[in-house]
Formats: sequence, structure tokens, C-alpha cells
Amino acid sequence: MTITTLETAAAQPQAAMELRAAGVSLGYPGRPVLTGLDLHVTPGEILVIFGHSGCGKSTLLRGLAGLLPVTGGQILADGTPVTGTSPDRAVVFQDDALLPWRCARSNVELPLAIRRVPRSQRRKQAAHWLAQVGLAGQEDRLPRELSGGMRQRVQLARTLAGQPRAVLMDEPFGSLDAQTRAAMQRLLIEVWRSTPTTVVFVTHDVDEALFVGDRVAVLRPGGIEAAVPVPHPRQAKAARAPETAAARARLLALLQGQDPAATASGNGAAGHQGLATLPASATDGGPRAAVTNNG
Ligand SMILES: Nc1ncnc2c1ncn2[C@@H]1O[C@H](COP(=O)(O)OP(=O)(O)OP(=O)(O)O)[C@@H](O)[C@H]1O
Ligand SMILES: [Mg+2]
Repeated sequence: MTITTLETAAAQPQAAMELRAAGVSLGYPGRPVLTGLDLHVTPGEILVIFGHSGCGKSTLLRGLAGLLPVTGGQILADGTPVTGTSPDRAVVFQDDALLPWRCARSNVELPLAIRRVPRSQRRKQAAHWLAQVGLAGQEDRLPRELSGGMRQRVQLARTLAGQPRAVLMDEPFGSLDAQTRAAMQRLLIEVWRSTPTTVVFVTHDVDEALFVGDRVAVLRPGGIEAAVPVPHPRQAKAARAPETAAARARLLALLQGQDPAATASGNGAAGHQGLATLPASATDGGPRAAVTNNG
């Protein structure tokens, strides 16, 4: 799949966003979900959030998006406290969040209108992004006329069209078949390589986490258990490498509340908790270094 650069993309230089959660508590009335969570997402990193159903992944993403106010601590975007939503921080929701009365094209045109892209260019760009997600010819369909996977792809097109500085993705490829999922992962990675963007990516799928991410943060009830560096980010051929197998085993153990690496080194839970706040550059050479190495 090839990404062609659109005129406006060249006209809008941008920097990827730094995101930080400092002692953050999030929840709903009478239902605290996360308490005292620390997380640092470095500019240009793809950080995966991995955890069991109900542990608070979507809640954390809503907090980072500014859709859910913190009940303690602070969420910072480039050092500034997040107090609401911003077009710079786009969300791909778990449940598709398309406007039901707008066709696929006009859903994708929305962030372009917010960015005041001239009307004549909006149509062209929306067609471009819909084609990138494999939906050429479906532009005039309403969301209810599309399958769940197609609606997820329209959401992805809408997000990428807005050229946000941070993309918060909540199981974005969950309802796609394996082949389409792999194509969408490649599309995301190509766009991420061509446009400085920070990505926070929620998934249940350990193999997806170890392919897409620079680091994988394991979320358990209450907070982050550990952030594990991905041995070979975005290298499909490394799926069977011994380091990848070891990282997979560690992530699955962490999900159960065990950490074989910490036990082996005599390092207790307090030891690996600190990893959550380590920038990727301290563990794996940094996301951009990984891109250079990989691609
Ligand atoms: N609007 C809400 N009001 C009250 N409680 C909520 C609300 N949304 C989520 N919760 C609760 O917060 C907890 C975390 O939910 P969240 O949606 O963040 O989980 P998740 O990790 O994204 O799960 P999944 O993998 O199933 O999507 C759950 O116990 C859930 O019941
Ligand atoms: Mg969720």
C-alpha cells in the first residue's frame, strides 16, 4: 500500500505530541477505575496499552483524549494540562463513533472542515483516505449501510485525514478479518512514518502489540503493571524471533500479575513499576531510531 502525500500535508509541518499522566486517577461517579497512574509517551512513540477486558484501557484513553476529567493527578499534552478535547489528539473509538446521518465521505471530511481545509480539497482528500482504507466506491454510503469492519475503517480514514499530532486508538482493528487487519496495521505504520505522530494503541492481541508498538504497557485493575520494550518493532519477520517469544511470554505472565523477568533478577514489583515512566529511548533506542533501523 502506498501513501501519496497530499498538498496540505506538505503545507502543515507538525511535531509529534508528548503525553504524560502524572499520578492520574480516573473513573466514573461511585466507580474509581485507575488510581495514581504514571505514564510517559514520548513524541513519535507507538505505545500499546494491553490488558484484560474491564481493566480500564478505554477509561485511560478517554482521559488522554480529554473526554473524561481526571479525579486526581494530571494529564499533560506537551507539558500543558489536558482540560478538554483537541483536534490535535484524535480518537479512534472502540464502538464506532461515526455520525449516522452523514455518509462515509462527509464523516471523513469533518476533521478537514475543523482545520478549515477549503471545501474543494476536502472532497479530494476524503476520497484519498477512503481509498487508502480500501473503501473506494463506498463514499456515499451511510454508516448503517456499512459492515462493522467497514465503519471502523471509515473511522481510521477520518482520523488520518485530520493529521493529528497524537492518535488514541481503542482496539481499532478489533472487528477486522486477519488480512484486512494486517493491511490496516501497515497503513497506520506508513502514515506514522511519513507524519510525526504519537500513537497510543489499545489491543487485546499480544501479537498485534508486539508488531505495532515500541513499548507495551500492561494495564491491570488499578494501574500500569509494567511497560515492556518491543524487541523488533514493526518487523513482521521477527514474529518468530526468540526475543519476541520471550516478550510475548512476559506480557502474558504480567497480565496474570506475575513478572518472570523481575523474579529472575530478584527485582520485585516495585522495580518494574518504574519502567512505566521510562521513555522508550531509555530502553530500546527510541521510536525514531527503531524506524530508521527497520525501514
Ligand atoms: N460510563 C461508565 N460508567 C460507569 N462505569 C463505567 C463506564 N464505562 C466503563 N465503566 C467501568 O469502568 C471499568 C473499566 O472500563 P473500560 O471500558 O475502561 O475497560 P476496558 O479495559 O476498555 O475493557 P474492554 O477491553 O472490554 O474494552 C469497567 O468496570 C466498566 O464497567
Ligand atoms: Mg475498552
